[in-house]
Amino acid sequence: MSDLKKIRDEFISKLKGKLDLAELNQIKSDLFGKNGLVSSQFKKIGTIDVSERKKFASDLNIIKDELHDLINFKINEIEKANINEKLEKEKIDVTLPERSFVRGKIHPVSQTIDEISSIFSEIGFSVEEGPDVENEYNNFTALNTPDNHPARDMHDTFYLDEKKERLLRTHTSPVQIRTMLKDKPPFKIIAPGRTYRSDSDQTHSPMFHQVEGLHIDKNINMGHLKGCLNYFIKEFFEVKKIKMRFRPSHFPFTEPSAEVDIGYEIKDGKIIIGEGDQWLEILGCGMVHPNVLKNVKVDPTKFQGYAFGIGIDRLAMLKYGINDLRAFFDCDYRWLNHFGFDPLDVPTNYRGLSR
Ligand code: DAH
Repeated sequence: MSDLKKIRDEFISKLKGKLDLAELNQIKSDLFGKNGLVSSQFKKIGTIDVSERKKFASDLNIIKDELHDLINFKINEIEKANINEKLEKEKIDVTLPERSFVRGKIHPVSQTIDEISSIFSEIGFSVEEGPDVENEYNNFTALNTPDNHPARDMHDTFYLDEKKERLLRTHTSPVQIRTMLKDKPPFKIIAPGRTYRSDSDQTHSPMFHQVEGLHIDKNINMGHLKGCLNYFIKEFFEVKKIKMRFRPSHFPFTEPSAEVDIGYEIKDGKIIIGEGDQWLEILGCGMVHPNVLKNVKVDPTKFQGYAFGIGIDRLAMLKYGINDLRAFFDCDYRWLNHFGFDPLDVPTNYRGLSR
């Protein structure tokens, strides 16, 4: 029997047995590796007598293909079986019932802030933010608030150090200062956020929310302030007409200053905004005091404007019929479920911030 035939028969019978991947790879290298049995036969071709060379080469190629194909077939078979076994083990049971999940609700205060921001953004206001922990300068001094002003009292303000240099901001007005210090006029911004005062009863909470407004440009007057607030209140309460009155007031950072009331009446136990003879105070406002502008290096002979501060929680309570302010901050899941907003079920009047 020729060498070739011997090699062939020996390995064909070996390959009939049950072999694992490692054994098959070993056989592959025994035959076709650098010094493998078949590879060595190829090296021999040149030494064979010319008369037999052609036949030898042809037989060798046939045997090489036969063994090679058989080994690859067996390797393939094992790999396929491995994959099938893995798939079988990792099979997903699509008949399993889905896991139940609870969809969260948007807090009425967040919803109200979104609505306010989108209403003001439609008339050119952008949204600014400031930190809850403020310094005394931004919260009081830069806003023209004298040292003996009652708002600075320990009973009203949460100070964070003995020197009274750092505090929890008592209003969003310091964002006016921050905005004007970092940029050049004109300014047209609102700044919603958390504010803090030492106060707690059914209508006051130590933490509450305000939105500040500031519009500074050349030739801005009180008419602009009135127009802006009138537009906002109508849009917010979704009414065509609104009764609004400006009551003279005092804030250190505005001159003149006013508080704004809106007309309302109670009909069948429900509050109707914009009609009736009753008045409800909803915000403070005025023309920005020249001293404030000087403090932020804005020339009050060239630029002027208005500012306002609105209590957000109050607006949310009015619009959504919530009567106890403290519930806003109780984190009662049942309350939130009732008064909160479904994040996927957008109310019809909601414009969305991105519009
Ligand atoms: N900061 C005032 C407060 O908390 C509200 C306010 C009044 C803000 C008049 C203003 C303003 O910007 O011009 O009571």
